[in-house]
Amino acid sequence: MDYDVIILGAGGAGLMAAATAGQAGARVLLIDHAEKAGKKILISGGGRCNFTNLGIEPGCYLSENLHFAKSALSRYTQWDFIDLVQRHGIAWHEKTLGQLFCDGSARQIVAMLEAECAKGGVETRLGVSATAVRHRDGRFEVAGAAAPRLIVATGGPSIPKMGATGRAYEIARQFGLEVVEPRPALVPFTLPESDRLFTTIAGVAVPSVARVNGVSFEEATLFTHRGLSGPAILQVSSYWRAGDAVRLNVLPGALERLKAARAKSPRAGLKAALAEHLPARLAEALAARVGLATEMGNASDAELARAAAVLEGLEFVPDGTEGYAKAEVTAGGVSTAELSSKTMEAKAVPGLHFIGEAVDVTGWLGGYNFQWAWASGVAAGQAV
Ligand code: FDA
Repeated sequence: MDYDVIILGAGGAGLMAAATAGQAGARVLLIDHAEKAGKKILISGGGRCNFTNLGIEPGCYLSENLHFAKSALSRYTQWDFIDLVQRHGIAWHEKTLGQLFCDGSARQIVAMLEAECAKGGVETRLGVSATAVRHRDGRFEVAGAAAPRLIVATGGPSIPKMGATGRAYEIARQFGLEVVEPRPALVPFTLPESDRLFTTIAGVAVPSVARVNGVSFEEATLFTHRGLSGPAILQVSSYWRAGDAVRLNVLPGALERLKAARAKSPRAGLKAALAEHLPARLAEALAARVGLATEMGNASDAELARAAAVLEGLEFVPDGTEGYAKAEVTAGGVSTAELSSKTMEAKAVPGLHFIGEAVDVTGWLGGYNFQWAWASGVAAGQAV
């Protein structure tokens, strides 16, 4: 059978592109080496899929070209996806910070996308690996099929044990396209021996403001056996490069709080004063780091100001991240300079498109990455 387009990868981006192209009348073959489609959707959002965010805007994405994502995101918005979800009768709710989740299960999102593909007559082949790709006479040949267009939607290498690969980069390089060095993003940090103090309080979470390279996020930080995690940390990890310091404010308004504690309980130590606001084990670790040896009542304004500065600007220099094994996404990828922002087609290779996480566009935590998958999928699907 002849196809108009072959799509490699039946994740969020590939399914969306397939449904869009199929419903527009194209003969679509969708290939994935996994035994089922949308595996990352199924595990996302704790099984409830944080499928988009009410606050989608281009500023919530990282890329070497911060303008690239604008076109696709503005032509297929969060409201378009919400409309699709509602048409399929899937109940949803906003959890926090504009993040939308299914009330039921992420399985509903995969079923919805599969139904949309079926409506477009998409042929899906699972358990088929996209090994060699050949291009001759204006046609792309892969896995025994051929078509004048190929959409690469194989994602990035995050979570390899789920079948994630860097196949998209290999295909890009095969066609001479530049790939922005991929790196794990939305990923926990590991801390060096010198910060072991904090790894002894594994499991403690605290509201915080985390800052890296001038970018900050106000969400929870979680101390782990190996370092730091939690939403605030995952967010700043995408902006982090080896050697950068991470600054954590775990007690906003620290000086006023310490002065109030001094007035209220002058005989108490710093540990007790901090335990009024923070989990006890964290209060103990922080008091040790601040090193204020005296009772609160004996502490001078200058000593409290020094303590407050430490608490509002805890500095960690991670010795690394937990890597692709734990990274929610991969930053970097096929360079946007190579692609049309309208169709996601390679400027130098007519008919070859890259979409989703494979491309150098990475969203914040909170539904931004799926919205990019949907929007870039629609952009490519409309173009075929
Ligand atoms: P995706 O990785 O989903 O799909 C690629 C597909 O290609 C896979 O089906 C894979 O099997 C296939 N493939 C790979 N190599 C192949 C080859 N050589 N041959 C054939 N097939 C191949 N985002 C968000 O917005 N909200 C959320 O709640 C979450 N939650 C979340 C939780 C966890 C644990 C992870 C790991 C990630 C998230 N994400 C997320 C991120 C989100 O899952 C991710 O950004 C999208 O799935 C990317 O969609 P793609 O379709 O581009 O790639």
